[in-house]
Amino acid sequence: MDTMTVFDLSVTDALLSTTRAVRKRLDLDRPVPAEVINECLDLSQQAPTGSNRQGWAWLVVTDKDKRAALGEMYHRGAMAYLNQAEKDAAQMDDGGQTSRVIDSALYLADKLQDVPVHVIPCINVGLMPDNPPRAAWAGVMGSIMPAVWSFQLALRARGLGSVLTTLHLSQEKEAAALLGIPDDFMQVALLPVAYTMGTDFKPAKRPPIGDITHWEQW
Ligand SMILES: Cc1cc2nc3c(=O)[nH]c(=O)nc-3n(C[C@H](O)[C@H](O)[C@H](O)COP(=O)(O)O)c2cc1C
Repeated sequence: MDTMTVFDLSVTDALLSTTRAVRKRLDLDRPVPAEVINECLDLSQQAPTGSNRQGWAWLVVTDKDKRAALGEMYHRGAMAYLNQAEKDAAQMDDGGQTSRVIDSALYLADKLQDVPVHVIPCINVGLMPDNPPRAAWAGVMGSIMPAVWSFQLALRARGLGSVLTTLHLSQEKEAAALLGIPDDFMQVALLPVAYTMGTDFKPAKRPPIGDITHWEQW
């Protein structure tokens, strides 16, 4: 490590570049202790928020019946989208990458109820105006997604995996009624959480940053 390097980059860069969307490699049989979820949530609380408000709440669902109900809602929300996405993916010239994602997403839609822990991050939108301007959305989502990602990174570092999903949100009200989520809190995702089968995840192919980065001027 050179003297200016604060952390071991072989570890931090591997964590940042190999925290994947995990679906088929979630271990549905291995129990997840509550302590490990609490530890990862605790770390996520260090994420930034607008006005330093931490206006979030985290629903952790392990109850079998509730997971079954969420799984059913997710399936309902997911299938229309995924069936169309599967057809679109078949036409794409991307070496099958999108088709593999859709195949994996379809697997999750069938198995979600069996994933041992569901985590639903929520953000307080009580102060949001009706028809909010773009800047308000940036403030709201920007005040929860960094914490969500920190949570996912902390899971990965401990041998667990997750995937950020949004396909149950078309049934958001039904999920809120099931879990007693108050009206002024918006659900932003559902994260299925489990230990992963193996831990050898790899960096994904992404566009070169030269194509998307504009220094000084677009
Ligand atoms: C805003 C957002 C919504 C997503 N929604 C879903 C979803 O509903 N279901 C799902 O299986 N994956 C979902 N994903 C996961 C993406 O498919 C995944 O991050 C992407 O394919 C890249 O995979 P990687 O993270 O392994 O590189 C979502 C990701 C994001 C950022």
